[in-house]
Amino acid sequence: MSRPFPHRHLLGIEYLDRADIEQVLDLAETFLEINERAIKKVPTLRGRTVFNLFLEPSTRTRTSFEIAAKRLSAEAVNISGSTSSATKGETLIDTVKNLDAMSADVIVVRHGASGAAELVAKNVNAAVINAGDGTHEHPSQALLDAFTIRAHKKSFEGLEVAIIGDIAHSRVARSDLFCLAKLGANVRLCAPSTLMPLGITKILPPELASRLTVHSRVEHALEGADVVMMLRIQAERLSGAGFFPTTREYSRTFGLNRKRVELAKSDAIVMHPGPINRGVELEAEVADGTRSVVLDQVKRGVAVRMALLYLLGVSGLPHDEGWPPS
Ligand code: NCD
Repeated sequence: MSRPFPHRHLLGIEYLDRADIEQVLDLAETFLEINERAIKKVPTLRGRTVFNLFLEPSTRTRTSFEIAAKRLSAEAVNISGSTSSATKGETLIDTVKNLDAMSADVIVVRHGASGAAELVAKNVNAAVINAGDGTHEHPSQALLDAFTIRAHKKSFEGLEVAIIGDIAHSRVARSDLFCLAKLGANVRLCAPSTLMPLGITKILPPELASRLTVHSRVEHALEGADVVMMLRIQAERLSGAGFFPTTREYSRTFGLNRKRVELAKSDAIVMHPGPINRGVELEAEVADGTRSVVLDQVKRGVAVRMALLYLLGVSGLPHDEGWPPS
């Protein structure tokens, strides 16, 4: 490996620089091929223990981390919300200290509260990977999205990426924005004004601020885009307040259908982190159409998570090195 990864944890893309991101993507490239073999296993992380602590629902992210750990020969232990002692009133800190006491090397954590992964990192010796904390960040998703875009578009420089949906409650949108802007792409965020966070234009560091534009009309966001990323309405994070009149109305105004996708470049790709609400943000014919790279995202996600487990699971940096991120 060219250099040690300069971070002990992966808490958010906000704390990474371009070289860190490229290091993960380059390493993921070398892991892709293992997933194509008949025997999909290498001994790289033999004897290491990875806990997947998922206190919010997940299909892709949890299985992707589990498969990634297993293909590197680590012991993967899965704990989910409904079967953990969180249901008996144990605090998150107590839970993770117990996992740490079993000599965890990596703790992958998903939690409904923004900042939960950082709290875990401050209380354990293991390396911590944020697999989604509330509306804050979902860094491994952004890395797999960037990995997928790089495979299809080669370079990020000047690429026009439209991210459309519930920007206010989407940790994927935040992480993708940081990641793609740092890599040189221009990001167009589009949502109804009620689902666009206040102060979003100030979220990027000043030198990257010009890479972000905000749109309230989906047609403007789509015009000439190279990449179209659709996001789910995060219904579980909406308080019941009227963020938009009806799902039908939302779909008509902001959903991606066959006609609308034609506004993007003729070679534009369509992405979605899943789970898709078919017929709401994305019509089935687009989700399953020739532009869709949704399943390629999932495939590449395993390689990206292998790279992350490798970089954080064997780096052996002391706990306080690389934290807080400089
Ligand atoms: C996303 C998440 O959990 O933030 N899903 C995922 O990890 N692939 C997006 C979503 O739930 O809408």
